[in-house]
Amino acid sequence: MLHSPIMRDYNLFDEIIISLDQGMRTIFATPDNAHRPSPAAALDAAQLLPSDKKHIAGLMRVNHTGEIAAQALYAGQAIGARDEKVRQSLRHAAYEEGDHLNWCRERLDELGSHRSYLDPLWFSGSFMIGLGASLVSDEVSLGFVIETERQVMAHLESHLTSLPQQDKMSQAIIEQMFEDESQHATAAELAGGVELPDFIKGLMTATAKVMTTTAYYV
Ligand SMILES: [Fe+2]
Ligand SMILES: [Fe+2]
Repeated sequence: MLHSPIMRDYNLFDEIIISLDQGMRTIFATPDNAHRPSPAAALDAAQLLPSDKKHIAGLMRVNHTGEIAAQALYAGQAIGARDEKVRQSLRHAAYEEGDHLNWCRERLDELGSHRSYLDPLWFSGSFMIGLGASLVSDEVSLGFVIETERQVMAHLESHLTSLPQQDKMSQAIIEQMFEDESQHATAAELAGGVELPDFIKGLMTATAKVMTTTAYYV
């Protein structure tokens, strides 16, 4: 049975334990916040050249690492959120990212490839960034959600054009993720998220560049 931590009140100690538990599950186990089947589940696997498989695995590894970072960011942000509604919406966003994490993970398994060895590093770094953003204000924190989702969407879009045409399974996963991320960004905007300064956006872009470049290979 699925359980969600989003509907109860917790003190700071509980929050930290929940986040550590979520981190361990996110990185090392199957997260319990996955509930929708993969959009690729009903599709047939295409015949792929070894070089294509390697490329697709690189892209899906990047997406998987992006989901690890998003979950960590939102978990960190939830701890420092002042408004209970914002805290719950951040938990809910992290909860929904569980599907994406699992879909990418399943696709990597099908391709006979591995997750990024650097995921624990990206989880820790993103968690600290999320916690830091939440200490500024809820509006800034939600602004981080908006910008994160926009940057993820840009990556997903570029992956769609880079995928071999016959790989409908990865395509279906990425298209559904794109739609979901768009909804997450809109929800954060409606909840009061502000536009971040350009230099913060630039820093996020630069960090994402390092993350995606390394995750493609390792
Ligand atoms: Fe996601
Ligand atoms: Fe998202």
